[in-house]
Amino acid sequence: MTQPKFFPTNGHLMLCQNTNCLQRGAGFLHQSLTSALEREHLIYYRAGGTLRYTPSGCLGACSSGPILACYREKDGLLEQGWYYGVTLPLALEVARAVQEKGDLPLGGRFDLLE
Ligand code: FES
Repeated sequence: MTQPKFFPTNGHLMLCQNTNCLQRGAGFLHQSLTSALEREHLIYYRAGGTLRYTPSGCLGACSSGPILACYREKDGLLEQGWYYGVTLPLALEVARAVQEKGDLPLGGRFDLLE
């Protein structure tokens, strides 16, 4: 078995593609987000890109989709950002923040304590 090549990245985005999120437009969002990440060279396999992006199974917030989860290391700790009702502009805002190692956007997050 060949050992796979490892690509270091700034963070990992996952977009739910399960039934409820698909009914709320997650399929089209996945297609348009994939294209945008490639076009803007944000995805790790494009020159200068630093993101991993994968469609995922249910992320556990089914009635509020499309749901996007983001994981990355920040200041030596694991940081998470969980977003609901995700649109392409919001997903790209998250992606650009990860690429630039900036603060994750606050709008649409549901993981923050109130
Ligand atoms: S179907 Fe998307 S979070 Fe469950």
